Amino acid sequence: MAKFAESRMAFTVVLACMLVAASHVDSATLTCAQVTVLLTPCISYAVYGGTVSPVCCQGIKTLNAAYKTAEDRRSACTCIRDTAATIPGINYERVNALGGICNSPCPFKVYPSTNCSKLN
Ligand SMILES: *[C@@H]1O[C@H](CO)[C@@H](O)[C@H](O)[C@H]1NC(C)=O
Repeated sequence: MAKFAESRMAFTVVLACMLVAASHVDSATLTCAQVTVLLTPCISYAVYGGTVSPVCCQGIKTLNAAYKTAEDRRSACTCIRDTAATIPGINYERVNALGGICNSPCPFKVYPSTNCSKLN
């Protein structure tokens, strides 16, 4: 069981890195699908608290390293804000604490009222 979960997590990280690497090749902006794959391992912490999984931190780091333009930040911000709004019980304080916990500060905070078009 534990072994299966571990290899699944490793697979998710590899997949996430591949997706982001692929976006570098054609220099497209980050897609919401890429952002979602990276941050999905963080959802349980955002809802229930407890410990932040290493896969979640890896996703945060990969995502923060992938921001190249204001457009990347705006689209990721919109994606995170709109996706978070669909998750019952999400705790925005915990969402916004993840950058600090993972030692990879996020360039913006996300609340339901965040105006993502203001990011540069
Ligand atoms: C968000 O900010 C932009 C740029 O300042 C502004 O034009 C827009 O009206 C704002 N949107 C909302 C919903 O406040």
